[in-house]
Amino acid sequence: MKQNLLSKEVESKLSDLIAEELKAMYTYVAIANWCQDNGFLQAYDFFLAESKDEKEHSEVLQKYVLDMGCTPSLKDIKVPSSDFKTIKDVIYAAYDMEVALGEMYSDFSIELAKKDVLTFAKIQEFLKIQTESIGFFGDICSAAEGLADTKFEQLYLEKILVKN
Ligand SMILES: [Fe+2]
Repeated sequence: MKQNLLSKEVESKLSDLIAEELKAMYTYVAIANWCQDNGFLQAYDFFLAESKDEKEHSEVLQKYVLDMGCTPSLKDIKVPSSDFKTIKDVIYAAYDMEVALGEMYSDFSIELAKKDVLTFAKIQEFLKIQTESIGFFGDICSAAEGLADTKFEQLYLEKILVKN
């Protein structure tokens, strides 16, 4: 008979992380829509692709929960903010979100190290993904520093964003 290989705590934490990935998916949809609405047409495509990646991340976690003999439980997701003035605001928001997610995976990883090595190994994949995202958006944040909020300079920043 198939067993449930996850403890209640690990299962609950994985549900939180699945919700966080879906929240990131939803946030990037809101960001993409803001970009399109404000004439940042390449950033629209870029953030829609980011949104698809986040959906995939949630699916990888859900598949893991299923493989471990459990059913992933889904949660309500709050409507994301689209209160941006410039593409720089968007990039800072993306960076902050990726850092927060990275910290969640990191904290979870520390908890898991001694009690659930299977899940610990799975979470390492996500730490790698987060490290790359934090590095990427951190670089764009650096490029954004000192740029004015004029449309011309923000369109230049968009070019740097989509080129990477
Ligand atoms: Fe993700």
